[in-house]
Amino acid sequence: MHPTEINEAISILQSEGKIKEFGVSNFMQSQIELIETAQKIAVNQIEFSLTENSAMVNGSLDAMQINAITPMCWSPIGTVFKEETAQTIRIRTVLKKLCKKHNATEDQLLLAWICKHPAKIHPVIGTTNKNRIQNAQKATKIELELEDWFELLEASQGHAVA
Ligand SMILES: NC(=O)c1ccc[n+]([C@@H]2O[C@H](COP(=O)([O-])OP(=O)(O)OC[C@H]3O[C@@H](n4cnc5c(N)ncnc54)[C@H](OP(=O)(O)O)[C@@H]3O)[C@@H](O)[C@H]2O)c1
Repeated sequence: MHPTEINEAISILQSEGKIKEFGVSNFMQSQIELIETAQKIAVNQIEFSLTENSAMVNGSLDAMQINAITPMCWSPIGTVFKEETAQTIRIRTVLKKLCKKHNATEDQLLLAWICKHPAKIHPVIGTTNKNRIQNAQKATKIELELEDWFELLEASQGHAVA
């Protein structure tokens, strides 16, 4: 990647009013730093969900918070409805309980779990089902308590979070 060439292209698009902001996808911190020698990055779209949350512990989300980059996340539902594993069974058991507590659906709680992270992650949902899209929007109104958030994390990890 040539940061100055990228900056040139992005500057033209911005001056022509074709784009407002510049974002990247699946970039590591070193790649972000390279591009930002010439061009500010507004958004980085990464994989993040209750079942794939390594970005929370590998420094990726911390770096985005420090550098004022908005994280978007793909596959926010993770493998919860796709796979029947010990992990997804544990998660669905906790979800079932929390659905009653918050009068919410499982997918809403999975999105609310992401939205509670201080990096202010924006989930990119994949469904094209109208009802599910409308349902997902309501997740922004759900306020998970920290205890709920950690219970879900512990269900994902399969052990207590110290
Ligand atoms: N930047 C990247 O490298 C990258 C990589 C992968 C994807 N993406 C983008 O990210 C977007 C989202 O990824 P994704 O599609 O994996 O997102 P997702 O929202 O995590 O998963 C969508 C899938 O979950 C199913 N689903 C949603 N709610 C459900 C429920 N309550 N019960 C059962 N199944 C449910 C949907 O089924 P239905 O369709 O039947 O509703 C759909 O198949 C994609 O559209 C793509 O644009 C980007």
